[in-house]
Amino acid sequence: MAKQMLIRDVPDELVGWIDGERADKRMSQREVVINAMMIASGKRPDNGTMLIDFPSAKATETYLPPFSFIDLFAGIGGFHSALAKINGECRFSCEWDVHSQRTYKAWHHRTPVGDIKDVKISDIPDHDVLAAGFPCQPFSIAGVSKRQSLGIAHGFDCATQGNLFFQLATIIKAKRPPVLFLENVKNLKSHDKGRTWEVIHNTLDELDYWIFPKVIDAAGWVPQHRERVYIVCFDKRAAFPKKPDFVFPEPPAGPAPKLRDILEPDPDQKYTLTPHLWEYLQRYAEGHRLKGNGFGFGLVDLDGVSRTLSARYYKDGSEILIPQGKNRPPRRLTPRECARLMGFDKEFQDNIVVSDTQAYRQFGNAVCPPVVEAVGREISRVIAEKLMENGCVLKRAGTQSATGARGAGDKPVLRKSN
Ligand SMILES: C[S@@+](CC[C@H](N)C(=O)[O-])C[C@H]1O[C@@H](n2cnc3c(N)ncnc32)[C@H](O)[C@@H]1O
Repeated sequence: MAKQMLIRDVPDELVGWIDGERADKRMSQREVVINAMMIASGKRPDNGTMLIDFPSAKATETYLPPFSFIDLFAGIGGFHSALAKINGECRFSCEWDVHSQRTYKAWHHRTPVGDIKDVKISDIPDHDVLAAGFPCQPFSIAGVSKRQSLGIAHGFDCATQGNLFFQLATIIKAKRPPVLFLENVKNLKSHDKGRTWEVIHNTLDELDYWIFPKVIDAAGWVPQHRERVYIVCFDKRAAFPKKPDFVFPEPPAGPAPKLRDILEPDPDQKYTLTPHLWEYLQRYAEGHRLKGNGFGFGLVDLDGVSRTLSARYYKDGSEILIPQGKNRPPRRLTPRECARLMGFDKEFQDNIVVSDTQAYRQFGNAVCPPVVEAVGREISRVIAEKLMENGCVLKRAGTQSATGARGAGDKPVLRKSN
């Protein structure tokens, strides 16, 4: 059985060396000391590999293995902020909108590269998890089946498709990330009469991934009804030959979040609708009501949840209006309240660097970080179990990441939380 040892009065120069090794190799103090002693005692050869601590089976419930990820169609980095919280390290990001790039730089300290169509595969480092909230576009399934019957390239092999999903598929095919973590609007499955989903599913299947899709409503985490499809995939060819035991998370237990919890106490008057706009919205809604349609503004119940924040919220704010009493028109949410409604942490709420219009667009387009974090924790559990199969992880410091994706000789991905 392993013995505990406490060593007092360690000389300063040794402490300095241990700290340097820890920072350099991203290891715990214990790992550095054990490795040094194993090598000094001749129990292990000094071959540049490091024996990394691995938790007992019981501890995998809470253990978050380090992993690397890339962030495509990154927007303002909803994926980034969530995955960084669970021990993920971003190695590459791509987003072409300059305003979103500005926010991304301010929040995540790197500027994403631009148009994904211009990205060279060789510029994308190896990674464990590919994250992407890709834009939803129709596919020409007729084109696909015609090509199929003619025996010519189809699906991800067809360079002429030009669809952004195929850019993604090309990257997946070349880089073979062990895990894919994709997000899209709920109607991805019904989009273009189900053809869009059919092509996406078939392509991922053709690429040899286990596919786990699920529609999740963010209302369990934030006071907003926001249904999105999350697609988590695992590579059958390498890391996951057996179907992993992946399950999507349930929302946290306890009382559901309420809209009033995200409101600012004293928002600027400029967010109150002008009487003219308020009158117009009421007239417009009444017109639709008389025609039997349900369209109209969304005056929220402060003890409930809002409708879905959309990228067009900047136009009139009509989908989510905050009541302000009988004698005053309602107001729209402030950008800061939108950040809260999406579940972005305080450090981001306090650092909005673009105009209100751009901020509304960016939050309306974003993923909900608390949901991504919850799904990410389940992905982490699968990665941890995978690593557990060996009992411990033997890594060559500086080149491998959690699931064994090899780096291109650049900075180490492997790191360990203490
Ligand atoms: C649904 S949003 C994703 C938002 C992101 N997940 C977030 O949390 O902010 C899709 C993003 O893809 C970007 N995009 C669309 N076409 C692109 C292209 N060709 N290259 C790079 N980014 C693109 C859009 O500007 C938009 O920000």
